[in-house]
Amino acid sequence: MTCVGEIRVPLGSTDVLISPLGIGTWAWGDKLVWGYGKGYSDKDLEEAFLTSVERCVTFFDTAEVYGWGKSERLLGSFVRRHNADVTVATKFFPYPWRLRKRALLKALKGSLRRLGLDRVDLYQVHWPFPLRSIEVWVDALADAVEAGLVRAVGVSNYDSDQMRRAHLVLTQRGIPLASNQVHFSLLHREPESSGLLHLCHEMDITLIAYSPLEMGILSGKYTPDNPPRGTRGRRYNREFLKRVQPLIHLMREIGTGHGDKTPAQVALNWVICKGAVPIVGAKNRRQAEENAGALGWRLDPEDIIALDKAAREVLKD
Ligand SMILES: NC(=O)c1ccc[n+]([C@@H]2O[C@H](COP(=O)([O-])OP(=O)(O)OC[C@H]3O[C@@H](n4cnc5c(N)ncnc54)[C@H](OP(=O)(O)O)[C@@H]3O)[C@@H](O)[C@H]2O)c1
Repeated sequence: MTCVGEIRVPLGSTDVLISPLGIGTWAWGDKLVWGYGKGYSDKDLEEAFLTSVERCVTFFDTAEVYGWGKSERLLGSFVRRHNADVTVATKFFPYPWRLRKRALLKALKGSLRRLGLDRVDLYQVHWPFPLRSIEVWVDALADAVEAGLVRAVGVSNYDSDQMRRAHLVLTQRGIPLASNQVHFSLLHREPESSGLLHLCHEMDITLIAYSPLEMGILSGKYTPDNPPRGTRGRRYNREFLKRVQPLIHLMREIGTGHGDKTPAQVALNWVICKGAVPIVGAKNRRQAEENAGALGWRLDPEDIIALDKAAREVLKD
């Protein structure tokens, strides 16, 4: 199963090609934060997968911890059932009881088993937890490449110094650091303010932007009168949602000027224009369809300036 007119871009300086927009699959099996099983089913997720692939969004990100392996199982079953030509990324979680370097290869084999694949396109260390050094896990990533189990390797939630250290270890093994996956959205600008985004561009490392819709807030559907439920409701409270509304209003206005683009499409396009690859969560066909509409057009430079300014207003104390 392939799509027509697909554009793929290189992942860092590797020969792995990815669509400029990806799908994140944290919600595919996660009950705690996303309420898997209530409000969306496996059928909805399969339709989200199929719609994305049909619309040339072919880069999928999962992790061993998402739904305790359920996300990897679902993604793998969709890929195999539809013989889909997609790029698959997953992640190693450095649990405190994982102390030996060989734990990474063992975890990777578990991921491959759940995905039903012989190798993944991108394998990432999920967090830079300090129990074992950055160097230990990144060296283990290089072992995974040499074992032929992964095509490219990356890190996630690493700051600039940690990323430089990871890059150095891999360079010594003759392997590029493909990516750093971090939180980046109109409402989370740290990768820009810290210089991480700039450094990624300089070092030819792809910045993969997670939570690009700020967990759904930037779609505009949540308001002070209609806040998200559960843990998300505590994180994005009514007061915050009140402050976000002028930004959503501007996103609608700018979107209209680009042929009826929605706030979600504007939010994703903004990330792309900043030179990062957004991975957006999608729970059903409708969301997948809408999010795919972030591709094939670009915000104007003056739109970016206006959005940056409006987002700063939301974030200032
Ligand atoms: N490396 C890390 O530490 C890390 C951390 C977080 C996330 N991630 C990755 O990044 C991915 C995306 O981040 P995320 O899932 O946290 O947040 P997100 O992409 O900002 O938001 C996704 C959620 O927004 C809602 N949504 C999506 N498209 C929509 C649309 N068109 N209209 C209305 N609502 C829409 C859906 O939830 P509702 O329908 O319930 O509102 C969806 O689950 C994750 O799946 C995961 O792969 C990685």
